Amino acid sequence: MKGSEPAGQERPCHTIGVLTGGGDCPGLNAVIRAVVKTARKFGYQVIGVRNGWKGLVEGDVEPLTDFGVAGILVRGGTILGTSRTNPLKDEDAVQRLLANLARFGIDALVAIGGDDTLTVAGRLHEMGVRVVGVPKTIDNDLSGTDVTFGFDTAVATVTDAIDRLHTTAESHHRIMVLEVMGRHAGWIATTAGIAGGADEILIPEVPFEIDVVCEGLRARRNRGKTFSIVVVAEGARPKEASGFVTSSGKKDEFGHEQLGGIGHLVGAAIESRLGAETRVTVLGHVQRGGSPTARDRVLATRFGVKAVEEIHAGNFGTMVALKGDKIETVPLARAITQKTVDMDLYEMARIFF
Ligand code: F6P
Repeated sequence: MKGSEPAGQERPCHTIGVLTGGGDCPGLNAVIRAVVKTARKFGYQVIGVRNGWKGLVEGDVEPLTDFGVAGILVRGGTILGTSRTNPLKDEDAVQRLLANLARFGIDALVAIGGDDTLTVAGRLHEMGVRVVGVPKTIDNDLSGTDVTFGFDTAVATVTDAIDRLHTTAESHHRIMVLEVMGRHAGWIATTAGIAGGADEILIPEVPFEIDVVCEGLRARRNRGKTFSIVVVAEGARPKEASGFVTSSGKKDEFGHEQLGGIGHLVGAAIESRLGAETRVTVLGHVQRGGSPTARDRVLATRFGVKAVEEIHAGNFGTMVALKGDKIETVPLARAITQKTVDMDLYEMARIFF
């Protein structure tokens, strides 16, 4: 779609706003840097919005210059800060957000985020805001793009953790349970599990029976293997559970439950059923931190460049996406649906259990 205004009445773009929303992930700074550098090429100014949608509601912004983004390519996190603020919860917040866009002369917006941030971006586009989305999430659960940046770095971190758990598991003849991120989709668990040679992988897409899991581990022990590695995505659940297994009971502004707890449940069940010494590691936010891998730096850079090129071309309401080797765009509405694990990949992983 060419802009959100009637044909022939497009406003020229002078200033681009950029924000990062939702959970952080490695590569956000690489996108911000690419936005600033590509904007310079076209003669646009860039305004950085602090802390996601919250910064637009509160008018918390800062100009971003070449100088300001120097050296950030390799840095994890986001120099802009982030939040899980949902402006759509409150009509007054939406009005303040729209007023601040006008106040700071932001003609077009690059919104970098996952499903929540991009859902808000899609709604704002329907209200006439000129926005282009950039997909991020370590969980890799956004459809519309082959992969999100941040995922590769998270997989590398988890694979390293599995490698480390392997040596100590083998020495002590223990079962190691590793809980990793992955709310609705087990991409991290499956991919890192394959890379690290996991002996069991539990993911949200396939509710499990603990007795069947233990049978598999017992069979492995009977084959002479004195240790096992079990990778559990935080959103995995036993067949009989009606919802997520969590220990905190807290929710965020978008109504998402704070996950964490399934690893300990699985570990305790294995220990009691198999009588094997079991230890549980919850990797948590280590997976979201640190410097992006080379692959994530390149993908994030390509996304940032493409987002500004789209603004320059007057294409809004889209999300940049990786399709094969090419960076393309998809309508925001299509991008926001969930992408779950390819069952062929998961079935292949089971060959090694
Ligand atoms: O970024 C997505 C995600 O990693 C989910 O897998 C996880 O449930 C969530 O973020 C946790 O985020 P936070 O603790 O920052 O709310």
